[in-house]
Amino acid sequence: MGAQRVRDGFARLYGAEPEGVWSAPGRVNLIGEHTDYNDGFVMPFALPHTTVAAVSRRTDGVLRLHSANTAGAADTAGAADTAGAAGGAVELRLDALVPESDRNWTAYPAGVFWALREAGHPVTGADIHLASTVPTGAGLSSSAALEVVVALALNDLYELGLQRWQLARLCQRAENVYVGAPTGIMDQTAAACCTEGHALFLDTRDLSQRQIPFDLAAEGMRLLVVDTRVTHAHSDGEYGKRRAGCEKGAALLGVDALRDVPYDGLDAALARLGDEEEVRRLVRHVVTEDHRVERAVSLLESGDTRAIGPVLTEGHASLRDDFRISGPELDLVVDTALEAGALGARMTGGGFGGSAIVLAEASDAEAITKAVEAAFAAAGFTAPRTFEAVPAAGARRLV
Ligand code: GLA
Repeated sequence: MGAQRVRDGFARLYGAEPEGVWSAPGRVNLIGEHTDYNDGFVMPFALPHTTVAAVSRRTDGVLRLHSANTAGAADTAGAADTAGAAGGAVELRLDALVPESDRNWTAYPAGVFWALREAGHPVTGADIHLASTVPTGAGLSSSAALEVVVALALNDLYELGLQRWQLARLCQRAENVYVGAPTGIMDQTAAACCTEGHALFLDTRDLSQRQIPFDLAAEGMRLLVVDTRVTHAHSDGEYGKRRAGCEKGAALLGVDALRDVPYDGLDAALARLGDEEEVRRLVRHVVTEDHRVERAVSLLESGDTRAIGPVLTEGHASLRDDFRISGPELDLVVDTALEAGALGARMTGGGFGGSAIVLAEASDAEAITKAVEAAFAAAGFTAPRTFEAVPAAGARRLV
C-alpha cells in the first residue's frame, strides 16, 4: 500500500497534509497456535500486506476515522461510513468511548485511544485515514495491524516513549476490553516486533523474543498461504470457550498457566484430569504445541529447515482432533497439499476458517496450488486464494 496514496487520501478528506504516515503488517503464524493465552510459545512472521495510516493530532478530544477500504480494514469492517461526519469519516468523542459499544472496524482504532487514555497517556485526538491490503477475516491479523499502526503513530506523534512490546500490550487491551474479543498477545506483538527475513520466536509470558532467520527461497522452498475464504470472528464464542477450557485445565492442575505443564509431565497431568475429557484434549494440544514450537526453533537454528514440515503437520492434527477448531476447508487444504507432495501443512490463526499454510519445495508449489484449487472446486467450496508468504517488516513510520 503506497504511502503517497494514503497521504493524498488524507489531504483530500481532511483538507491538510497529515503529520506522518505509518504502516503495520498482517501476520501468519508458522507454529504455536492457541498457546499465547496460555503463556506459551509462538512463532509468527510479518506479511508484506499492510495497513497504512496517515495521521495528524487534534487537541479537541475528537477522533475522526476513515478507511479507503470499502470492505473495511478489520475483521468486522464494512460500516465505516455510517456516522455521517464530514467527508464520510466517522467522528467520535474520546471522552464518550465505552467498551464493547462498537461492532464496526472503528472499534479497533478507537480502542487504542481508549487503552492509551486509560493508562494515563495524554492523547487528545486525531484525524486518521487508513488503507489496508491485509485480507480481512482470513486469520491474518488485520485487526492487530489496524491497532498497531494507530498505536505506533500516536506513540510517535505524542512522544509517549513506549516500547514496541508495550504498544502490543496496550493494543491487546484495546482488543480484549474495548472491542470485547478475548485474544492473546501474539498478533499485536507480531505486527509491532517482526523484522524482515525472520520469524519471531516469542515467549508470551514475558514477551522475550528471538528473531529466527527464515529465508526459504535461499533453500529452494516456499511457504504458501491458502485463504479458504471462510471468514471467522474472534468475538464469537468458540475462541472464548477454548480459552476458558484451558484456564480450567490450569486451575485443575494447580498451575498459573498451561505453559507450566512440562512436556515430559504431560501423561501424568492428563491422568490427574481424570474424566474431564474436553479439558484433557485442550491441555494435550497446548502442551504438545509448545513443544512443537521449541522443536521447530531448534530445527531452524540448526539449519534443518525441511524437517519442520512434519512438525507443522502434527500441529494441524492436534488443532483438528484435540483443540477441534479446524473445518472441512482447512482440512482439505492440508490433506490435498500433503498428497501433492508438500513438506508440511497446517491451519494458521484462530481457526474456524481463515487460512492454512503449506511448506513446499519451490518446484512443487505450483502443482500443489492447482491441486488445492481442483479439490475445492470438486468439493463445491468457494475458490481459495493462494499467495506466497515471505517474512516482511514489522510496523514502521513511512513518512
Ligand atoms: C488469534 C488470536 C491470537 C492467538 C491465535 C491462535 O489470532 O488473536 O491471540 O490466540 O488466534 O493462536
